[in-house]
Amino acid sequence: MKTMTQGDTRVAHLPTGSYYSPSGEYDEMHRRSIEDPEGFWAEQARSLDWMKPWDKVLDWKAPYARWFVGGKLNLSYQCLDRHMKTEVKNKVAFYWEGELGDSQVLTYAELYRLTNNYAAALKRLGVKRGDKVALYLPMIPALPIFMLACARIGAIFTVVFSAFSGQALADRVEDVEAKVIVTATGMHRRGKILPLKDNAVEAASKCPCVEKIIVVKHTGHHVEMDPARDVWLSDILAECDEYVAPEEMDANDPLFVLYTSGSTGKPKGILHGTGGYSLWIAKTLQWAFKTDAQTVWWCTADIGWITGHSYVVYAPLELGLTSVMYEGAPDYPGIDRWWQIIAKYGVTTFYTSPTAIRMFMRHGEEWPAKHDLSSLKMLGSVGEPINPEAWLWYYRNIGHERISISDTWWQTETGGFMISPTPGIQAHPLKPGSATKPMPGVDVAVLDADGKELPNGQTGFIVIRKPWPGMLLDIYRNPELYEKTYWSRFPGYYLPGDYCMKDQDNFLWLLGRADEVIKVAGHRISTAELESAIVGHSAVAEAAACSRPDEVKGEAIILFVTLRKGTTPSVEIKNELTRHLRATIGTLATPEEIFFVNLLPKTRSGKIMRRLLKAVATGATIGDTSTLDDGASVDEAKAAFAELTDSAHHYKTSEKKPDIK
Ligand code: WT7
Repeated sequence: MKTMTQGDTRVAHLPTGSYYSPSGEYDEMHRRSIEDPEGFWAEQARSLDWMKPWDKVLDWKAPYARWFVGGKLNLSYQCLDRHMKTEVKNKVAFYWEGELGDSQVLTYAELYRLTNNYAAALKRLGVKRGDKVALYLPMIPALPIFMLACARIGAIFTVVFSAFSGQALADRVEDVEAKVIVTATGMHRRGKILPLKDNAVEAASKCPCVEKIIVVKHTGHHVEMDPARDVWLSDILAECDEYVAPEEMDANDPLFVLYTSGSTGKPKGILHGTGGYSLWIAKTLQWAFKTDAQTVWWCTADIGWITGHSYVVYAPLELGLTSVMYEGAPDYPGIDRWWQIIAKYGVTTFYTSPTAIRMFMRHGEEWPAKHDLSSLKMLGSVGEPINPEAWLWYYRNIGHERISISDTWWQTETGGFMISPTPGIQAHPLKPGSATKPMPGVDVAVLDADGKELPNGQTGFIVIRKPWPGMLLDIYRNPELYEKTYWSRFPGYYLPGDYCMKDQDNFLWLLGRADEVIKVAGHRISTAELESAIVGHSAVAEAAACSRPDEVKGEAIILFVTLRKGTTPSVEIKNELTRHLRATIGTLATPEEIFFVNLLPKTRSGKIMRRLLKAVATGATIGDTSTLDDGASVDEAKAAFAELTDSAHHYKTSEKKPDIK
């Protein structure tokens, strides 16, 4: 597969030319949003239902932005109560499709009733405003309902992706100090049942903060219940058929914590607020996908990630859209499961990841061709850079060369889309592989290592020069890390940690991470996290993680391990370490290859020579590492390289299907 090229391959038949001229609506709107952010956002915020209006649009004391200061609202009210007075009330909110082929239709009225009941259930178990709840659930309706119920009573929730292990769940539950874990008996994945309840019990037994586990009956298998701690959702709901008034939340009250990987061994809790976040996600969804009352929206992301929080649950409900939600794997039971679902529900607007597109590309265009995809009007992509070849495959075989693609660049920290085509403002010329232009309110620059703005055509660090309403409030209980990670390298500017290039037409090309974060099938994981997990195994002395480009998953994990005395490299120990990683982190931590070496290559000051590792992992030669920037001399690097290649025993892990985000 070709690597990303930044060619000017405009998709010619879409409206071009005048679009980005100074008189264009997009340019005008973007200019206003940057020149007068407060006026611009005050106007936009009128689309929300405020319980009390704000006193001040923006309070910016870098690096903390507080939007709509003094304003009061409730996000579950925005998503539900508000619609009870309009025709949206009886509209479908979710078409839910189970992996086994079962399905469920939830109208807004039904979702409203259930959210009230779930909120009552949480209250009955003693959950109060400001308490923390961990949601460890598969893609079933109970997950969005609990998220809405938490928002309703002002409980701060953290969703933990269901493919994370019991240990990874425990780490998050402990950090957030959750009082309650909500889980299901299990989940379906490619015909197997995964034991979520068992993992929740493991986490609860390690975390004294947990008082209750609420269990949703989903899979039929038997689970042990501890009567002092565990409750069936169905039992408690039987007593909770009532209305719960939505709490008046402050615009800057925390809504949720979502853990994501950074540069340390421990995931950090990204804290999002209520007012700015609600506004940002609803507006960006309209702008990037031109949604309207007829939209049937399907975002394939798991709710365990920010994409699912913002664009499976909250923004579509705020806008009163009909959505599809699917429980299972994209290729189960057949490669065409997704295309079948699009045809079944008449999906108009489809949003997925490059990894998924590349996987389907590999299986061939005959699979989507079997299904009627004529309902589609808009496509989207997210999670990692999309290579032009995959973009064009998507454009041709799913969009039939007639519809626009919004490649949306953003992050857990940004809350919602930051860079994307905005056909909801004005039709767009596109370039395959480019996320195009910043959203209104997003002030982008590309800087060199010294903080100087680079001319068009050169690659550097992307920064955002102004706060935007969806910006994270903080890192949960770690303001020092917040300041250090995002604001210290270029003071006053938000640093996302990606490379970027602005081309001659001012189109932006996002070129991957500039830090130690790896993107495996769109999942974010750091080398430090992998290293700290692997050295937790008693056979391991030292370890270093890096990545290698992968045709489908974007990047694959490669580990370098030195074993303790008495253990010799073998297939068994490789399998054992792989199992250990999956148990400590989850399936997404599965390494593609493990190299057992005598010594990790280090500089005199003790820094691991990561570029050398990468050269070995990708089969490059020592010549390719001439840009070694970790302080090693060329001789030192050469010696280390020779030692590494001589001593390495490497083992490939059997090919696994990527767990699509
Ligand atoms: C990182 C953020 C965005 C929600 C899901 C991932 C990469 C994301 C794109 C894109 C190029 C992208 C970046 C970013 N990324 N979207 N359209 N083009 N790169 O959220 O787990 O917080 O990861 O994903 O590297 O920094 P996340």
